[in-house]
Amino acid sequence: MRIIIFGCGIVGRSLLELLKVRKKELNISYGLAPKILGVVDSKGFAINTEGLNIDEILRIKDLGRSVGEMENYGKKGAFELEILENIEFDLLIDMTPTNIVNGEPALSLIKRAFSLKLNVITTNKGPLALAMPLLLELAKHNNVSFRFSGTVGGGTPLLDFAKKCLMGDKILAIRGILNGTTNYILTEMEKGKEFSEALREAQVKGFAEADPSLDIDGIDSASKLVILANWILGKKITLKDVKVQGIRDIRVKDLEDAKKKGKTIKLIASVNGEAKVEAETIPKDSNLAVSGSLNAVSFISQYAGEETIIGRGAGGKETASSVIRDMIEIRGLMG
Ligand code: HSE
Repeated sequence: MRIIIFGCGIVGRSLLELLKVRKKELNISYGLAPKILGVVDSKGFAINTEGLNIDEILRIKDLGRSVGEMENYGKKGAFELEILENIEFDLLIDMTPTNIVNGEPALSLIKRAFSLKLNVITTNKGPLALAMPLLLELAKHNNVSFRFSGTVGGGTPLLDFAKKCLMGDKILAIRGILNGTTNYILTEMEKGKEFSEALREAQVKGFAEADPSLDIDGIDSASKLVILANWILGKKITLKDVKVQGIRDIRVKDLEDAKKKGKTIKLIASVNGEAKVEAETIPKDSNLAVSGSLNAVSFISQYAGEETIIGRGAGGKETASSVIRDMIEIRGLMG
């Protein structure tokens, strides 16, 4: 499988590390033999149609430098999308940071990849939140695979569980905690910590977005809800269709009051007709009353009833494990 990787931050580097340490096992168990023909980061790129050495990529990134500085194959500066037309490869993996304003540069990258009949995996929520119905249509039209497991739930297979395991039933509604940062903040506030201190901790622990207002104001949860609604419920919605409210107005006192009544406050994303994100007071013994940075999502199906999946919703290795899951699936579809 010939691959070009875009984005070499925490998730990108974690993926390369996993591909390196799991090389033999991935080949024996799944027939996965990835060859990295190119890596692109924010300051340059490196291309070798014979395959780049993963150790060398990781070494240069560990030094805090760009892959554009790699010996022989590196080139500093912007990557022009036209370059893709001159390389023969099978899969483009986009792990660039989320841009929720216009989805760029990932949105144009994914569209170009589809037009070149390339399979795509992305962990970037921006293009999906803003243009998921269009992207799904384009992938279908060009007859390519498009997977995005890492965009929702980190390594927890929320999308796959609903899509595959609940196949044959009818999912009527989805409700869940889709953002680890706000869940961490609310959990800590329940213990008496101030909002700003809890947010600082979430940033240090690495859950928060580069711009944490995306977490706090519910935009990250809403983006993930758009992905679930499109992929699982077949709804053709984008971010503008979600009613969004964050957790800025919640005070320690609100959490204390809820606790006295055996309840807690959680930022719940739900789609049941209407798609919305809002802070809800729920019973302490509810399936969704998970603490810390955990995510939890309940799928309510017509026949199987309610099932809840709980797991870590962020992290480099966790999200990279989702990318590997997508790679194995695409490998299977390629025949
Ligand atoms: N900022 C996100 C969160 C990271 O807190 O859940 C994972 O998408």
